[in-house]
Amino acid sequence: MTPVPVHLVDHPLVHDALITLRDKSTPPEAFRRAATRISVLLAAEALQTVKTTDVTVDTPLGPAPGRMLGRDVVVVPVLRAGLGMLDAVLELVPDARVGHIGLQRDEMTAVASQYYSKLPARLDQSDVLMIDPMLATGGSAVAALDLLERAGALSIRMICIVAAPEGVALVEKHHPQVDIYTPVVDRELNAHKYIVPGLGDFGDRLYGTI
Ligand code: PRP
Ligand code: URA
Repeated sequence: MTPVPVHLVDHPLVHDALITLRDKSTPPEAFRRAATRISVLLAAEALQTVKTTDVTVDTPLGPAPGRMLGRDVVVVPVLRAGLGMLDAVLELVPDARVGHIGLQRDEMTAVASQYYSKLPARLDQSDVLMIDPMLATGGSAVAALDLLERAGALSIRMICIVAAPEGVALVEKHHPQVDIYTPVVDRELNAHKYIVPGLGDFGDRLYGTI
């Protein structure tokens, strides 16, 4: 099988937002703003390859040729942390349809279990962008991608903010056709399956539930 394409998004503004997210002294409000900032940039990069259609519109001074999105975009945050990236994507694609997948890692085993799913119809005709900031063991990503594929999705990209080698490898094994966009693949996972150096628990830092 062809290895999963990992696109390292190496923009100075991405790294600037990432270092704010990593800093343990960043409070939830600044954390949320940095999450939005980085997500705009990651989503723009991930959607660079979506198909467009040629159109002409009338400006007040005459016809102007241009391009518009040629396919339906569906964005799927993995709850709860993925919600911190959703507004950014909707800013870029205001008419995107939104699906939700709820997954929670067990605190002891780090195994993800599903507690919610609501996906739009006709996923086979859509470009799906799955958003989840942390790709650690990869268990959550693979569970969410399994669900999306079972629901018919054929074109899936995912964006995350920090990835671990183990997570990338698991997605590579189970979903080699999915493109991953991330600023960074960190060193390793610790004994509790947290990414090191990572940024801690994204959901807890986003919502102040530490
Ligand atoms: C986090 C994160 C991912 C998952 C990554 O969610 O948002 O979904 O962990 O870990 P994995 O690659 O080892 O599966 P968590 O389960 O902590 O739930 P939350 O978003 O509700 O905080
Ligand atoms: N989930 C997080 O929020 N952080 C990690 O480092 C791993 C999983």
